[in-house]
Amino acid sequence: MTQNATVWLPYAQMQTIHTPLAVCKTQGSILTLTDGRELIDGVASWWTACHGYNHPKLIHAICHQANSLAHVMLGGLIHEGANQLATRLGENLPGDLKYVFYSESGSVAVEIAMKMALQFWINKGAPQRSQFVYFQHGYHGDTFFTMSVSDPQDGIHPPFEDMLPKHCLQKIPQTPEEFAAFESWLQEHHEKVAALLIEPLVQGAGGMKMYEAKTLEILWQICQRYDVLFIVDEIFTAFGRTGSLFAIDQANITPDIICLSKALSGGTLPLAATIANKKVYDAFLDQDYAKALMHGTTFMGNALACAAAIASLDLFTNEPRLAQVADIEGMLKSALMPLQNVAGVKTVRVKGAIGCVELAYPIIEDLNWFKLNFIEQGVWCRPFGNIVYTTPALTINSDELEKITATIVKLIKQWSATRYRK
Ligand SMILES: Cc1ncc(COP(=O)(O)O)c(C=O)c1O
Repeated sequence: MTQNATVWLPYAQMQTIHTPLAVCKTQGSILTLTDGRELIDGVASWWTACHGYNHPKLIHAICHQANSLAHVMLGGLIHEGANQLATRLGENLPGDLKYVFYSESGSVAVEIAMKMALQFWINKGAPQRSQFVYFQHGYHGDTFFTMSVSDPQDGIHPPFEDMLPKHCLQKIPQTPEEFAAFESWLQEHHEKVAALLIEPLVQGAGGMKMYEAKTLEILWQICQRYDVLFIVDEIFTAFGRTGSLFAIDQANITPDIICLSKALSGGTLPLAATIANKKVYDAFLDQDYAKALMHGTTFMGNALACAAAIASLDLFTNEPRLAQVADIEGMLKSALMPLQNVAGVKTVRVKGAIGCVELAYPIIEDLNWFKLNFIEQGVWCRPFGNIVYTTPALTINSDELEKITATIVKLIKQWSATRYRK
């Protein structure tokens, strides 16, 4: 194949990057490379392919939709799929989270949530409420506003740091004393705070950090007391990943805004949704056009993506997806937890279909060793920072999952043996 241009890859130093693996086919949890090799996918394409690749129901829904309507702009037009998907999402979400604003990527979905929160307060005559509370290890995207609420310590956005608006970085409280300190901080500062933004139960790109549902509940209750909007970013956690359809299903909370993307379309097409409750939506209703939400993206609510998302929700109803997650969780625990005793392993965390081994220090110089050895063993995993993790398709079979976990165990033991040789 001749190549006269270069695909500029994400998070990659293009001068030193290894040639990316060329994939020509996907099926279930298998990536087939152009050279004929097959890899078991331990990442599900950045956590999107919840039903595995090429699920016939998703493919059928997309092809069927393509025959009648692939895309129309939502500026002044609407289509059945956009309406139907909004209804289905609203039915599955708690409270009155029923006002669905579409976009195409997770970062933009969060960006829109932040705009909604800011304009909510502007429309209510409180423009000074312009700050966001965000958390250590949080990650919300790569656009400018989302970079400003992603933990600067995680090292993804350093070149831009001085250009970003400043918001309120907090540690997720764990103890009664920390909750009390957080509350008294918010009591003092809430009049400049528009919203709190958090990934529920698991902070993904910040290192698969996990915390209790109770923590989320207490944070939500505190925000209720000070009239601070509560935004949950479920872009990673939604659609079964943490064991329930949405992570917030495990906590007794009703956020004001929720952001969805990634597995929303079953990992087939770019789609995102920022979903507000009635309180937020109503603040934009007025005779005055200036109070409308001034956002729109060309491909928002794409009809093919909506058809895939509806079919994906059907699969959560018609196939035992959440039971499969429970099985995956059990297998991940029994395979990975023993690694806690290996030298150089700081901790092992498992929740739903997320298994993560945190090492004692960042493995920058060992990352390529891990990646190449995973590939050699026929597994696709992508460690980062100081974690080696797997987030497989929720449909992965037990042999495939066992191969992934056995490879993680083998490589971590090998790594430990060379790094911690006496
Ligand atoms: C929690 C969370 N929010 C937002 C994003 C950004 O999504 P996207 O890459 O689609 O812009 C991600 C991506 O990993 C994420 O995990």
